[in-house]
Amino acid sequence: MLAPRLSRVLKALAPPRPLVHNPSEPREMPLGRWNLYVGGAGARTPGYVNLDLAAAPGVDVVADVEQLPFPDNLFRRVECDAVLEHVRHPQRAVREIERVLAPGGYVRIVAPFCHPFHEHPKDYHRFTPDGLKLLAGGLEIVAEGWRTGPTATLLVFLLEWVKLWLPWRAWRALAHVVLGWLLFPFRYLDLLLLHSPHAGRIGNHYFLWLRKPGG
Ligand SMILES: C[S@@+](CC[C@H](N)C(=O)[O-])C[C@H]1O[C@@H](n2cnc3c(N)ncnc32)[C@H](O)[C@@H]1O
Repeated sequence: MLAPRLSRVLKALAPPRPLVHNPSEPREMPLGRWNLYVGGAGARTPGYVNLDLAAAPGVDVVADVEQLPFPDNLFRRVECDAVLEHVRHPQRAVREIERVLAPGGYVRIVAPFCHPFHEHPKDYHRFTPDGLKLLAGGLEIVAEGWRTGPTATLLVFLLEWVKLWLPWRAWRALAHVVLGWLLFPFRYLDLLLLHSPHAGRIGNHYFLWLRKPGG
């Protein structure tokens, strides 16, 4: 365990994330009276029912996204960001989301393609854009693209690679701070690279906005 004081100092010095979001990703779709946020453990999600497998601060309902404890056609909007890689059967999870989504409602799914191993509580999958779109089923695709690009991939893997050489947790935490500050300005290169038709060869996370027909 890190000493509490060192842990507090490293937290205060935390570098910016080594990624920028694609500015052309549509940010907002209509919210309704009931909206669902899947996998928001530890986060504040005002306006959403926050559902997670883990009983953690911020979570309203502890459940598995593969078996949602809600009636059909309830939610106007569902957010499912960086969750499907942790789910045993992503196809079942998206069918459940489709079931609880109201006709005319929207779901945003974001999932990694090139990203380091990270367990929450397990890490089962990575998705190509075509693989992710196969999950859409009866939902219409209204927007899609790379949320985070090739430079994000490079930087997150470089940070992980450097940490592999450091045997102690305190050193890894320190390396994360120092390298994080040195490397983060490179993240803006993705604002150029995301225009390349080949960006997806080593893209980081892909987004899909899907709509349930009707409504
Ligand atoms: C990587 S975090 C995503 C956090 C947040 N969406 C974000 O982008 O920062 C994945 C979350 O999904 C939750 N999770 C994993 N498997 C799940 C499942 N089968 N059903 C519901 N939540 C799950 C984890 O507990 C964790 O809180």
